[in-house]
Amino acid sequence: MTHVSIDPRTPRGADLADLVKRSVALIERLQHPQGAYPASPTFSAYRGYSWFRDGAFIADAMSAAGAVDSASRFFDWCGRMLAAHADEVAEIVAAEAAGSPLPDDRMLPTRFTLDGSAGDDDWWDFQTDGYGTWVWAAVAHARRHGLSLERWAPGIRLSVDYLLATAHRPCYDWWEEHADQVHVSTLGCIIAGLDAAVDSGVLASATAARAAAAAAECRALMIDRGTHDDHLAKWLGSTAVDASLAAVVAPLRVIEATSPLGLASIRAIDDALNVDGGVHRYLDDTFFGGGQWPLLSCMLGLAYAAAGDRERAHAQLAWAARTETAEGMLPEQVGEHLLAPDREQEWIDRWGSVATPLLWSHAMLVRLAVELGVAGAPAAAVVDASTEGAS
Ligand code: BGC
Repeated sequence: MTHVSIDPRTPRGADLADLVKRSVALIERLQHPQGAYPASPTFSAYRGYSWFRDGAFIADAMSAAGAVDSASRFFDWCGRMLAAHADEVAEIVAAEAAGSPLPDDRMLPTRFTLDGSAGDDDWWDFQTDGYGTWVWAAVAHARRHGLSLERWAPGIRLSVDYLLATAHRPCYDWWEEHADQVHVSTLGCIIAGLDAAVDSGVLASATAARAAAAAAECRALMIDRGTHDDHLAKWLGSTAVDASLAAVVAPLRVIEATSPLGLASIRAIDDALNVDGGVHRYLDDTFFGGGQWPLLSCMLGLAYAAAGDRERAHAQLAWAARTETAEGMLPEQVGEHLLAPDREQEWIDRWGSVATPLLWSHAMLVRLAVELGVAGAPAAAVVDASTEGAS
């Protein structure tokens, strides 16, 4: 099998509810005892690593599904990763304040091994989005379940210090590409994180004021230079769209879904990148031939739901559910509609078959199902936190 294919049957309500439940259970089973969520337990290039980006969205889905302890333990892990890098954050902040910013290779890692080291493998490090997204997810989790934020306060403060020193810098995007650009979805994650940190009340008042001002500056930048034809654009000055922008609308809710910018962005992503419910990352994508990503179908579904179009949101969920393999796993992408078919084989030769399961895919399906109140999702919400296994 090179690419996962789509089951043409529309999943019945009961199947979908069951898939949601099994997805929550799969994520819990694969969560490392120390709290990290592996991106994919078996895929060559991801095995043994956890990303702040994937993990934050996974934790948000687990929280929304009622797996409170699982989400909390991921945020604990984030806090430990940040504490272990507190000296580096202080150096980055001091160098920035002195007007001699450190180079990209001195920035924080993008991913960590499950037991918390930076790992030995080279990666496209310096991606700021995850340091905002986990703060957004942790604060939303605490609010959703009435938890104290004190437990994550030190990590939130370190993240804010780091983001205040780096928010304006070009860095790799969600897809670990184009390090020379300022990416609009990255800005969205930073804004969401800074706003949440301010709202959390754990920042000293001077830091809270700086965080609020930085979030406002990022938002102005996004609107002034990060839009094209009235919709959000892939990076500042770009005319292209990227499906990661759907997240800026929902679940991050940085741009109001029903605003002209929100509606135009949803439409632009749908027009350019959505083929029958399966959403591409961006038009020039060549990774594994540039297939359709179930997690992005669900992001677009969340944006539709936030805009009040539940019918389209359900259609996105149904498409994502149909990417389930015979083994009950959701892949990173499917290859029914490739943008660059001649580029697929080179990735298979390099890294093997598409990452399956991808926990982020399962998580986004769960998140959208909970949002839509799909039958069974509330039941999945009652997950026994004491059953988490080690992987
Ligand atoms: C994607 C990233 C993701 C990582 C782990 C990469 O191929 O581009 O967005 O964080 O895989 O899932």
